[in-house]
Amino acid sequence: MYRIAPSILSANFAKLGDEVRAVVEAGADIVHFDVMDNHYVPNLTVGPLVCEALRPLTRATIDVHLMVRPVDRIVPDFAKAGADIISFHPEASDHVDRTIGLIKESGCKAGLVLNPATPLSWLDHTLGMIDLILVMSVNPGFGGQKFIAASLDKLGQVRKRIQESGRDIWLEVDGGVKVDNIAEIARAGADTFVAGSAIFGSKDYKATIASMRAELARVKT
Ligand code: DX5
Ligand code: ZN
Repeated sequence: MYRIAPSILSANFAKLGDEVRAVVEAGADIVHFDVMDNHYVPNLTVGPLVCEALRPLTRATIDVHLMVRPVDRIVPDFAKAGADIISFHPEASDHVDRTIGLIKESGCKAGLVLNPATPLSWLDHTLGMIDLILVMSVNPGFGGQKFIAASLDKLGQVRKRIQESGRDIWLEVDGGVKVDNIAEIARAGADTFVAGSAIFGSKDYKATIASMRAELARVKT
């Protein structure tokens, strides 16, 4: 089963509520919510207040991708604001196990995000606790970057680790996902696809998401 997660980073922020409604109506499964702090990453976006404002507009899963340091301070705020999944970068947390515990105690699913140069060893002692692994296929901070090809091999390795664990862990990919590479990325092992510019930069969200699903339908599992 594949899930499509438009990243609101590429939406029109002057009408964010309408954009979220439109993309869910167009067939999105998940709303991907990028949180940047101009510290851990060189860009600044939105916080829990905006998540709280969007929450009543949709029943779709809200997938909060924290690109912030420190991590723990802001986790309960996002849980209260209605996040369903909270993911963080392990390098940004001093105590990764504690942060995962904090997210779960707050009632959310917990995800670990691996940057392009972050090794899989972060999964060694966390795989039994997490619900999602997010493989970054660009360096975090900006939308509209080019997909890093080496991410395909990394996705395959992470998929293997998930299979060996026997746990139901989502494998999400983020950065440079388009209609013309989504099938190849699915073949590499991803099941959840973040796409910002490819969807919000297109004229017809419904047609773009439908094209992505048509590509995914051709993938043999
Ligand atoms: C990048 C963000 C992504 C971004 C993806 O740091 O985490 O979610 O919105 O944008 P595209 O799909 O345009 O590469
Ligand atoms: Zn993201």
